[in-house]
Amino acid sequence: MLAGYQHLLFAGRRLQWDEAAIDLGPDARAVADLPTAVRARLDRLVAGFCVAETAVAQHLDPFVARSAAVDPDAHACFALQQGDERRHARFFARVADEVLGLPADPRALAGPAIVGLFEEDLPRRAAALAADAEAFGAAVGLYHLVLEGIVFAIGQDALLDELDALDGALPGTRAGVARVQGDERWHVGLGVLHLRTLGAPVDVTEPARRAAAAWGPGIATVARVDRVLRAHARRVGFVPAAA
Ligand SMILES: [Fe+2]
Ligand SMILES: [Fe+2]
Repeated sequence: MLAGYQHLLFAGRRLQWDEAAIDLGPDARAVADLPTAVRARLDRLVAGFCVAETAVAQHLDPFVARSAAVDPDAHACFALQQGDERRHARFFARVADEVLGLPADPRALAGPAIVGLFEEDLPRRAAALAADAEAFGAAVGLYHLVLEGIVFAIGQDALLDELDALDGALPGTRAGVARVQGDERWHVGLGVLHLRTLGAPVDVTEPARRAAAAWGPGIATVARVDRVLRAHARRVGFVPAAA
């Protein structure tokens, strides 16, 4: 069943939350006791999300602008999504600073593959979209399906696994990541709906597998990538090729 723009808008408005209201005090006090290996994975994941969420918030401008010509409800959806992405960037910046004490520039910790995807590939596609409406399908395919539907989903899955294994030691971080994951699901739904409205292809299995590797094998495990790709395929309505 494919939800319309109005349905997604209703869902997105109902999910709104305030990252500043999340108490990260208990998390900041607990972090010193975490095992070194767990701490290293959390640092890398949160640094990756700081880079990624900042980039997606920044590069949604041409999507918001172009969607106005498609449908007023589509335009409202993309504008609401941009507000979500700005909130996600603020949330991960708080975790990086108040809980993990990461450097102000998280790029080195995030790694070159994540930085390349979000600070080179995405801006290039967004710039093409700003110049040419015909690029809308390819841009949404990269942004909503590959980056949000696959790369973010793998990172969120890994982050929630790490946090759940800590038995509630970082409750504010856990709560915020779950809210981010809820938002990203309707964003992916928006991408799928939009591609179908445009009549553009939604099978992104091959670029998605390459993008998934951006987190590295410790985070993008074979089992996790497979799980995320299969869940994604169910949502977009095609069967992915075997790994
Ligand atoms: Fe986001
Ligand atoms: Fe998103």
